[in-house]
Amino acid sequence: MYAIAIIGAQWGDEGKGKIVSLFSQNVDIVGRFQGGPNAGHTVRINNETHLFRIIPSGFLHARDAIIGNGVVINLEIFLEEMHYLSSLKKDAVKHIWISDRAHVILPEHIAQEQHRINKKIGTTKMGVGPAYTSKIARSGIRIADIISKKIQLNTSPKKFQSAVAIFKKVYTKQCIDSSLFLSQQAKTKTLLLEGAQGTFLDIDYGHYPYVTSSNTTAGAACVGIGISPKDLKKIYLVSCSYQTKVGGGPFPTKIEDPIVIKHIQKNGDEIDGVTNLLRDCGWLDLVMLRQAVRLNAPDGIILTKLDVLSGIGDIKICINYLLKGKIITVVPSTIDSVEEVKPVYKTIPGWSEDIQYVRNKTDLPKNLLRYVLYIQKVLQIPVYGISVGPEESQFVYL
Ligand code: IMP
Ligand code: MG
Repeated sequence: MYAIAIIGAQWGDEGKGKIVSLFSQNVDIVGRFQGGPNAGHTVRINNETHLFRIIPSGFLHARDAIIGNGVVINLEIFLEEMHYLSSLKKDAVKHIWISDRAHVILPEHIAQEQHRINKKIGTTKMGVGPAYTSKIARSGIRIADIISKKIQLNTSPKKFQSAVAIFKKVYTKQCIDSSLFLSQQAKTKTLLLEGAQGTFLDIDYGHYPYVTSSNTTAGAACVGIGISPKDLKKIYLVSCSYQTKVGGGPFPTKIEDPIVIKHIQKNGDEIDGVTNLLRDCGWLDLVMLRQAVRLNAPDGIILTKLDVLSGIGDIKICINYLLKGKIITVVPSTIDSVEEVKPVYKTIPGWSEDIQYVRNKTDLPKNLLRYVLYIQKVLQIPVYGISVGPEESQFVYL
């Protein structure tokens, strides 16, 4: 099996959904390996927009999709998503596979986050953190338990009980050992693993505690679906050409200029698909990206939303941080230090051309190429392609 992973380089919302969907045109199976309905992957194909939460966003192209053991599943949201996808894809139910080792988000997990709102971290309140807490505490309920054991649900909310009943009735046959399933596929088949969230929401290497409750980096792709690291043949990192963030935590390159902010939020449609919050925006942070490259060792990087920067004027790019008067080149481990760093910027002249219809490298503005080549030089990783609009087809290979 030829496995490829697509990983976010920032805090999520890099535009991975679109890239995954584009890449899925040529793969057999798409898979999710971590996270849950906290993810919101937007895909636009032929002017129609689709939002994916738990189902891998490449499922409209790839024949099969797997929800790996590393994912935490909200059964009601799963059923809603499948209901929607069944109207778009023939036999969707027969081609979705769910790891029986994946954990289930229970009503009490959601209640815990709704009532004890962690204002500081600003979670999506989907019960994702509490579900992973139960998993690590070894008291969680897995899909296998839901379909085999008679779990006492009498005290659970009626909506959850009925979701369990429908899930068992329709999807029991689709619940599998994802590792075994993949090992039984033909060697020529390709598997595309899509990361949810991003490198800086990784529980270990993100800006802890402002992180999600799972590992989001490339290493987790293997554990969360049940393949060996040796099976991962290609890794691509997706980075937005600026930074966006929902939720709390430090944001060293956050833009304060209201005109620039408005330009990005408006042209980039920076409203979160899951939380409906306006995302904070900032200049590209190469200190973070260097760390993302080190952690994920990608074969190439894909830069998204370059069309949003058209007409913005000069573009700043953070190359290092200043901490207590000293230049630092890596992301500090303690959150207090990350909160204290000041970005050191390089300014690159922008471009004003509308690039949404560009499909060839030679038609791109010179200053845009200068921006991209600078990023490539600093990261020492080829920029594989750039995204120039939300439609799947709005992509330029470099
Ligand atoms: P949780 O994953 O709901 O526990 O939220 C933890 C942090 O991760 C919060 O700051 C969320 O805003 C952020 N987060 C979780 N999922 C996503 C995502 O898909 N995109 C962007 N931020 C996310
Ligand atoms: Mg999102």
